[in-house]
Amino acid sequence: MRKVAPIDERKADHIRINLEEDVRSGITTGLERYRFTHEALPEIALSDVDLGLTLFEKKLRAPILISSMTGGTEEAGEINQRLAEAAQETGIALGVGSQRAAIEDPSYIPTFKICRDVAPDILLFANLGAVQLNYGYGIDECQRAVDMIEADALILHLNPLQEAVQAGGDTNFAGLAKKIEDICKKLEVPVIAKEVGWGISERTAKLLADCGVDAIDVAGAGGTSWSQVEMHRAPDEFTRELAATFVDWGTNTADSILNVKKAAPEKTIFASGGLKNGLDIAKSIALGATLGGITTLVLSAAMTSTQKVVETIGLLKSQMETTIFTAGFRDLAELKKNNPLQK
Ligand SMILES: Cc1cc2nc3c(=O)[nH]c(=O)nc-3n(C[C@H](O)[C@H](O)[C@H](O)COP(=O)(O)O)c2cc1C
Repeated sequence: MRKVAPIDERKADHIRINLEEDVRSGITTGLERYRFTHEALPEIALSDVDLGLTLFEKKLRAPILISSMTGGTEEAGEINQRLAEAAQETGIALGVGSQRAAIEDPSYIPTFKICRDVAPDILLFANLGAVQLNYGYGIDECQRAVDMIEADALILHLNPLQEAVQAGGDTNFAGLAKKIEDICKKLEVPVIAKEVGWGISERTAKLLADCGVDAIDVAGAGGTSWSQVEMHRAPDEFTRELAATFVDWGTNTADSILNVKKAAPEKTIFASGGLKNGLDIAKSIALGATLGGITTLVLSAAMTSTQKVVETIGLLKSQMETTIFTAGFRDLAELKKNNPLQK
């Protein structure tokens, strides 16, 4: 029998391994295949570039999401506080990590709730694994996750490969679409479906759109590989080798965005998976996304201070403004409409 770690131990492992080990996917995001056309006479002032947008009735000052990462351990609570303070100061969105730990042990609630306490105005996303809908969770647990942090929407993450390569993973993904559809119908806030780093195919995008999700976060391959993370946590050689097999797995981020755009053209798309800077986020938006999600960049900054996270986000914004300016556009709508990328 393979040994199973408790949830809080697992979350602590995830933070440590992501910061200390090389857990990059063996493939790239695909964004490097695209380039903007440089405009030497852009006919606008850099200071006129506007990164603002409205999403789920909240105004964002930039199309940036701090993707779901953590909560459920004392250290995670501090990290969440810094990430949320920085999101509030810079006007961007934040997703908390899976709230399963706090649903099962209320003593962990403060490590998630802190986000809303310090960031009353931000667009904030709750998070649960969709597969838990096959392990006893239903609308009550989803609503509790939302209420816990007064979330504006719920992210249901899809991670079949991560569950399959870890000891004791929850691998029954049968019939989940119907259950996701049920949550979409009953929950009071929008539902976002999200991968965790292996991307979205056309078939999955269509299935999710038919379930009625409000947005799809592609979390494509090219950044963090969760099979590599699980490889570093593996309790035995069998599990280690199983996880190591999948270093190159998945659909890259650029192709995933295009898959969703094709199969579910009306759906809001979040880009994430290996986004390194504001140029990558701008490319993702030009391909069809509404915003870009980032992880380890801000996670490592949060280990230092809130100020460091604010500085990191400031750099992302400047990189995006400079891109939009020198590509000859004024705002995100122009960037998206003109589809200015060339291969
Ligand atoms: C430390 C850490 C913890 C994470 N925990 C969660 C989680 O609880 N729920 C979730 O949906 N995604 C989680 N993720 C996945 C990210 O949100 C993201 O989808 C994935 O890492 C791919 O993006 P990246 O390549 O930019 O890291 C986590 C990522 C990191 C780095």
